[in-house]
Amino acid sequence: MAGKNKKLQDAKSADKAAAQSYQLRFSDVEKWEIPPAVGNAVAIDSLPSPIWTETKAQLIANYLRLFLMITKHGVYIDGFAGPQDRPNPDSWAAKLVVEMSPPWMKAFFLCELNKNSYAHLIDMLQGQPTIRARKIQAKHADFNEWVNEVLASGLITEKTASFALLDQRSTECHWATVKKLAEHKRSGNKIELFYFFPTGWIHRTVKATENKAELVAWWGDDSWKQVETVGQDQAQQLFLRKIQALGYKDVKSWPISSRELGAGRTMYHMIHATDHLEAPKLMFRAYRNLIGNVPAGEQSQFPFEGQEKIKFCGED
Ligand SMILES: C[S@@+](CC[C@H](N)C(=O)[O-])C[C@H]1O[C@@H](n2cnc3c(N)ncnc32)[C@H](O)[C@@H]1O
Repeated sequence: MAGKNKKLQDAKSADKAAAQSYQLRFSDVEKWEIPPAVGNAVAIDSLPSPIWTETKAQLIANYLRLFLMITKHGVYIDGFAGPQDRPNPDSWAAKLVVEMSPPWMKAFFLCELNKNSYAHLIDMLQGQPTIRARKIQAKHADFNEWVNEVLASGLITEKTASFALLDQRSTECHWATVKKLAEHKRSGNKIELFYFFPTGWIHRTVKATENKAELVAWWGDDSWKQVETVGQDQAQQLFLRKIQALGYKDVKSWPISSRELGAGRTMYHMIHATDHLEAPKLMFRAYRNLIGNVPAGEQSQFPFEGQEKIKFCGED
């Protein structure tokens, strides 16, 4: 009886959590136009307006929700999982994904290097209801090392729908890590990637990084130097092409702006790599749903000095 009551209570708190976090309903987006598939990719015209940095977590969660409606299962890897904006937990991807309802995501691997941010992650997880047959592993570690254990866990098989959020602050995610994730599956659809490229401050980061070996680890070789010779948008295009070369069927970059700096200033590009041709359509739907909340604006580049006032995640 006690067990029954607990289950009921758990179900109620899961429903409450889902009601509190904004969830996109399939019926909301079913009527939207679907971009066409052209050859081996999906054609999407220029996007009318950007997503704000604080909305990027909703983009990921809404996209995953649409995707899970098809697969009904999944594994979520979040290599850089601490909260970017601690007072605003609704903009925290790991929290939104853990609280998604129905709870189709069956396993979570959440990694965070910063001690305080890791403590926040653990607090958030402790506040979650227990869901039967769900495994959540959190690790205080460098994801570039822990990724080996994640991939060796046996939970990501050829048939498992798997997603990896690589929401680094600047250049912390090593190219070897991206490659390991992309090459893990031998025959099934590759692990989907959501890779955040720091478009808005890439030149400042490259200049300020004294130990150039860090840039080699980030880019995979010395050709990170090309970044110094091109503009911000071309830099993200170069990285997009590196990810395309890993053999994904569709790789697109989705601009993300900062509200403080205005709609025309791209902070990040979220590079989405997938082997499902339905996936970019779902991302388009999730993106379009969210841009309803922001004013239209032309995408342009901006001087990187401009983002001095932005506070980055993990910074106290
Ligand atoms: C941009 S924030 C993540 C934001 C988060 N996805 C959200 O939705 O709010 C990047 C996080 O990665 C952490 N980090 C930096 N280097 C790391 C590494 N090598 N391994 C794991 N975490 C790292 C930082 O401490 C920071 O909390």
